[in-house]
Amino acid sequence: MPAERVNLAAPRHIAIIMDGNGRWAQQRFLPRAVGHHAGVKAVRKIVEFCAADPTCEVLSLFAFSSENWNRPAAEVSILMTLFLTTLQSEIDKLHKNNIRLRFIGDRTAFDAKLQQKMTEGEQKTKDNTALTLVIAANYGGRWDMTQACQTISARVAAGELSSHDINEAVINEHLCLADLPEPDLFIRTGGEQRVSNFMLWQLAYTEFYFTPILWPDFNQAALQEAITSFKSRQRRFGHTGDQIAALATP
Ligand code: IPE
Ligand code: IPE
Ligand code: MG
Repeated sequence: MPAERVNLAAPRHIAIIMDGNGRWAQQRFLPRAVGHHAGVKAVRKIVEFCAADPTCEVLSLFAFSSENWNRPAAEVSILMTLFLTTLQSEIDKLHKNNIRLRFIGDRTAFDAKLQQKMTEGEQKTKDNTALTLVIAANYGGRWDMTQACQTISARVAAGELSSHDINEAVINEHLCLADLPEPDLFIRTGGEQRVSNFMLWQLAYTEFYFTPILWPDFNQAALQEAITSFKSRQRRFGHTGDQIAALATP
């Protein structure tokens, strides 16, 4: 590969759609719930890897979309229970490993006990510095933009902001991940090549990586492969390749 095509920088923010739990279980003639449990084990390994990587500052994981309520009630209920039990068992470990936990999405739809655990996890880990772990739960990119519009229009109505002041920076400020770097690398496991309403605004210039590996089988070597692919790309942000190469030359 020519040197000018190599993007030496490692991703600061990795965002993952963890897809394929159900198919992983079905291939083994097991209930889909077994796949979701296996998926949690894969999460642990990937979080560990990212926390140990000093260049990775943020790992965002899509755990439950605003559309996943459309699944059979029994599966939704299993996912909610798993969410709660996982938080109960993992928050202390995350804290010990200096990981900051953060949730994005409309949490008001969750039951009170779960909401309380989410807040507790965020409070306890808020000053940790090894990695920010963002869990998207009842999250949708359209929801995120809608809630930003609501807040901005309320500020305009209150006279705090004029409609002429609304620009990309103002919109960005009102979105969930305003204070974090945008995702550099987006990974979707499970073979589907779609965004499924994840971070629609934030993915504008993210590098996409799709793998057929089902989420429970996704491991550190597979993540390393995705990072290697990322590093081999030239991010141009609208410039020409030559302009970017010139910038990269000391
Ligand atoms: C992703 O795996 C987990 C959630 C959406 C909660 P799926 O459950 O979507 O697995 P497949 O796509 O059916 O295999
Ligand atoms: C996306 O996966 C959401 C999560 C991984 C949480 P889905 O399996 O729900 O996506 P679709 O329905 O195939 O687009
Ligand atoms: Mg799926």
